[in-house]
Amino acid sequence: MRLATLVGLAAGSLAGLGSANLAPRNYDANDYYVLQLERGVNPDDVAARLDMRHEGPLGNLAGHHMFSAVKRNDDIVSRAVHERRRRRTSTPDLIDRVPFWQKQRLRAPMTKRSSPGPARGAFPAEKRQDVDAQAVQRQKNVMSELGITDPIFTEQWHLFNAVEVGHDVNVTDVWRAGITGHNSTVAIVDDGLDMYSNDLKPNYYAAGSYDFNDHRPEPKPTLSDDRHGTRCAGEIGAAKNDVCGVGVAYDSKIAGIRILSKLITESDEALSLNYDFQHNQIYSCSWGPPDDGKSMEAPGILIKRAMLNGVQNGRSGKGSVFVFASGNGAVYEDNCNFDGYTNSIYSITVGAVDRKGLHPYYSEKCSAQLVVTYSSGSGDAIHTTDVGENTCSSSHGGTSAAAPLAAGIFALALEVRPDLTWRDMQYIALQTAVVVDPSDEELQTTATGKQFSHTFGYGKLDSWALVEAARTWKNVKPQAWLFSPWIHIKHDIPQGDKGLTSSFTVTKDMMLKANLARLEHVTVTMNVEHSKRGDLSVDLISPSGLVSHIATTRKGDLSGDGYADWTFMSVVHWGEDGVGDWKIIVKDSQVNENSGKWVDWHLKLWGESIDAEKATLLPMPTEEDDDNHDENIPVTTGVAETTTLPPAVQQTPSELPSVPSDHPERPTKPGSGSTAEGSAGEKPSETEGGSGSSSSDSSAAETTTAESSWLPSFLPTFGVSSRTQAWIYGAFSLIVVFCAGLGAWLYMQRRKRLSNTRDNYEFELINEEEGEGLTGAGAAAGEKGRKRRGGELYDAFADGSDDEMEMFSDGDDDDDSQGRRAGGSSSAAAAGSAAAAASSSSRAGPASDEDDDSEEDSVDEKAGLRGGTRR
Ligand SMILES: *[C@@H]1O[C@H](CO)[C@@H](O)[C@H](O)[C@H]1NC(C)=O
Ligand SMILES: *[C@@H]1O[C@H](CO)[C@@H](O)[C@H](O)[C@H]1NC(C)=O
Repeated sequence: MRLATLVGLAAGSLAGLGSANLAPRNYDANDYYVLQLERGVNPDDVAARLDMRHEGPLGNLAGHHMFSAVKRNDDIVSRAVHERRRRRTSTPDLIDRVPFWQKQRLRAPMTKRSSPGPARGAFPAEKRQDVDAQAVQRQKNVMSELGITDPIFTEQWHLFNAVEVGHDVNVTDVWRAGITGHNSTVAIVDDGLDMYSNDLKPNYYAAGSYDFNDHRPEPKPTLSDDRHGTRCAGEIGAAKNDVCGVGVAYDSKIAGIRILSKLITESDEALSLNYDFQHNQIYSCSWGPPDDGKSMEAPGILIKRAMLNGVQNGRSGKGSVFVFASGNGAVYEDNCNFDGYTNSIYSITVGAVDRKGLHPYYSEKCSAQLVVTYSSGSGDAIHTTDVGENTCSSSHGGTSAAAPLAAGIFALALEVRPDLTWRDMQYIALQTAVVVDPSDEELQTTATGKQFSHTFGYGKLDSWALVEAARTWKNVKPQAWLFSPWIHIKHDIPQGDKGLTSSFTVTKDMMLKANLARLEHVTVTMNVEHSKRGDLSVDLISPSGLVSHIATTRKGDLSGDGYADWTFMSVVHWGEDGVGDWKIIVKDSQVNENSGKWVDWHLKLWGESIDAEKATLLPMPTEEDDDNHDENIPVTTGVAETTTLPPAVQQTPSELPSVPSDHPERPTKPGSGSTAEGSAGEKPSETEGGSGSSSSDSSAAETTTAESSWLPSFLPTFGVSSRTQAWIYGAFSLIVVFCAGLGAWLYMQRRKRLSNTRDNYEFELINEEEGEGLTGAGAAAGEKGRKRRGGELYDAFADGSDDEMEMFSDGDDDDDSQGRRAGGSSSAAAAGSAAAAASSSSRAGPASDEDDDSEEDSVDEKAGLRGGTRR
């Protein structure tokens, strides 16, 4: 059933192609539903069966259709499905061929990223330093050579900075080489675009534009606050003329797609991200969930599908380039990994750097941030076009202004190389980025040879370097992936600076089987229960010792929801070979009454394939992708305190694991965690009153050596900080007893495995669950292939490490009694392979936000938000 769905989805593109469904909606009179239909199902028959009207296909999303019905309170599709299931007749029913439906509900639009926190709008005029006379002369030369007469060009320091020389996007020589964005098209998905501005009119691309708020072809700003999209558009494609300034790609085409000005449905937001995606090449998105330091929102399933559809089918398969602003919540300790748009592997996340090369107080950090570029701060903002025939803005800012600048620079690259794929663009962006602050101790040298910091990603964009790299870039091979099984922890998280560790070993063999040559993105999906989510932080450590702070503490995040199937993303591990132990450390750094339990996690490695011929397209995500935890065998149950932790779960020393010296660790931030990532990087030396990290490290090494002489390598390493040394030696005898017990246990396990043929049952479970996930790109093969690979998987574990052997076999004598049995995931194996990058975590509801323009609508309207899912 599931497989049929996926095949239908992948292959049903014929029905889905065609014009977007853009008939004006009437939400007062009608309800709207999106239904996914299996291949061959006639939408009109479905409409007749459900007493609805077929409104047309849902844009370019294969197999998805929009239907309308007379407005009523309940969800008539859900009701029909339930009735159908209750009756259980064997007569075929069209409803059985509707694998997914969703009643559309209006919700608050996403938040614009123009208002950076408390200091919003305040760009205190600083006394300008003396301009550099030589730089001013160069600027004059450029202007006369290129015929730039735009009146505010000299204020556009982000394009040519004659004051803080070098702090600009280094674009003028690109223009002088004739590269100004010809033939490139950027869609600005925002609150509109003033196509009647004399600065934007020459480059306006009407066919790629649409207003999803007022359902009309022209995305003209109408609300007094609708200036954001126009300012963003000016940064990209403001014409070289006598109005305001110029865009960074001033001959590119710009389209406006309006979604931020009114309540909107998930289906319309999904449509917006695929609108005219054969011609709109880049989607510039300066918005997202609220940057309030407490939201944790991912796009809904239709939007996730649209993004995957965009990278798979946009631009004739080269893939839409989605550019997202990292967010303005840094002042609230917000982090772009708590935003499912910015931490999608399909988006290029762009943060801000100010005109002095400093980190602006608002710009969010995270391990998913690829690059930064210029925006407001240090006394100035971005000067650009504004709404009006001849109106300019001098106060555009926030990460909202950074993302369009990046989008415009990518448009320059597409002029010289329109064949770059969405992943090529990410490669070129990171490989040509320039480190912002070389003295930053947070920098880690990554496998690409480039340095990464969570504050600035791989650095700031350099237009010239990026375009030069694009000219000669060799397209990378298609994407491949490797998914680990769900790893069950079910263990309380110790409070304080200790953490709970779990690791997963990737073998060379697994990489080969997954057709995965080297890494690009890494995602971790996890479940953690906690009564105050903001106390948690999570680090991901790769086999080579590179550290991703995938989750950081947030003081304002009081949610008791924990992490529910949340997917974190990192670009830190780009270029690594992936082989070895991947380690996760979950910490609850606040010693208080709020505590929690780590339930499980799941690692996904994404990267370039070995053999392009064998690469497949990732199936569309479903809402059940991450639901199959409990069909898995839990690692253990009944863990008793520290001494009997199972191999996969370790109490870690309070310090981070040792990091090679060429990968400098984050410095300890002084003060009360003014950075969101403070706790993750904090060292025990603070509490120990000055015993430096080196002494901790050496004690760690000692303990490890001591252990290795008499313990198998997979056993936990205990309290290695000097502070706990005494405790360890005091507990020495206890440990001996424990080891004896563990030895006996291991012996029993092994004997059972070797002698009892019925253990096959256990491995079959692994086959179904993990085999599918692990085989990654090869997963499109059917049932048969899955079984076979499952056997290989077992071998891989046997070769690789005892860790996993014990981890999985352990479950067979522990009852899965505390598992939450998730219903309806019987085809979880297929779901495993289909698991998409983004999580299926449900939205916490469209938290109201002070920034929204159209908030009159009732809270009720927004409350039930994510409706009708497949149950
Ligand atoms: C900027 O562009 C020039 C060419 O105009 C190039 O030589 C230089 O490397 C680029 N980057 C920097 C940081 O100057
Ligand atoms: C733009 O595209 C057209 C058609 O693909 C091509 O003929 C033309 O040379 C391109 N122009 C530039 C400046 O690249």
